Amino acid sequence: MKEMRLDKILASSGRWSRKEVKKLIREGRVLVDGKAAQTAEQKCDPELTELCVDGIPVPFCSHRYVMLHKPAGVLSATEDRRTATVLQLLPPDLQKLGLFPVGRLDKDTEGLLLMTDDGELAHCLLSPKRHVDKVYYAETEGRLTEEDCAAFAAGMLLEDGMCCLPARLEILSSGEKSCAYVTLQEGKFHQVKRMLAARGKPVLYLKRLSMGPLQLDPALEKGAWRYLSESEQKSLLALKSTGKV
Ligand code: URA
Repeated sequence: MKEMRLDKILASSGRWSRKEVKKLIREGRVLVDGKAAQTAEQKCDPELTELCVDGIPVPFCSHRYVMLHKPAGVLSATEDRRTATVLQLLPPDLQKLGLFPVGRLDKDTEGLLLMTDDGELAHCLLSPKRHVDKVYYAETEGRLTEEDCAAFAAGMLLEDGMCCLPARLEILSSGEKSCAYVTLQEGKFHQVKRMLAARGKPVLYLKRLSMGPLQLDPALEKGAWRYLSESEQKSLLALKSTGKV
């Protein structure tokens, strides 16, 4: 791999800004192959060099992975002339790095949105052939029933011709208004809303809770973001190495 500046490599871990990296170097806390780093500008091949901060190795990753708690009212897009996009919820430095949302959520849908520049991972998460569960919490008008669950489990052909793979509907409460978890392994346009509407139960509120092993961090406020932890990143990247499609 091409050599890169030390501050850029360490900042790409998402743990420190370039300014913070410079400070760490000045304080002698960064080791490059066991020797104290001299300057932020010094270059090395990140794949062949061991970098440690405070004695702890910092693995190099060429991609970035950000968890965003999408609020209602913003578009799952990287640009739009009229409406705010999820990209604008990230700080300016991150906005420049080519991150895109993995699996769109409707403007009024809230919840987990992974933002990354890793196209291969996005494909793994989104391809129906990979059978990655996407779990939503939905509130609907009308009483959800076991017949609705059976229809979801059987797969549905909607009136407009949209064919939905078998899915899971797990009723949490049922009455004039109902609540349920919906688990899909695909992500067609407005799919949860269209499936529930086809059962005569229009969606009033929708939130994505998880995508495969990645769960929305309950401590993340609406509109807030954070880098994925190392273990979250590992569990997602494991998808890339299993059963390529
Ligand atoms: N299904 C929907 O209907 N809307 C979303 O935002 C996501 C899944």
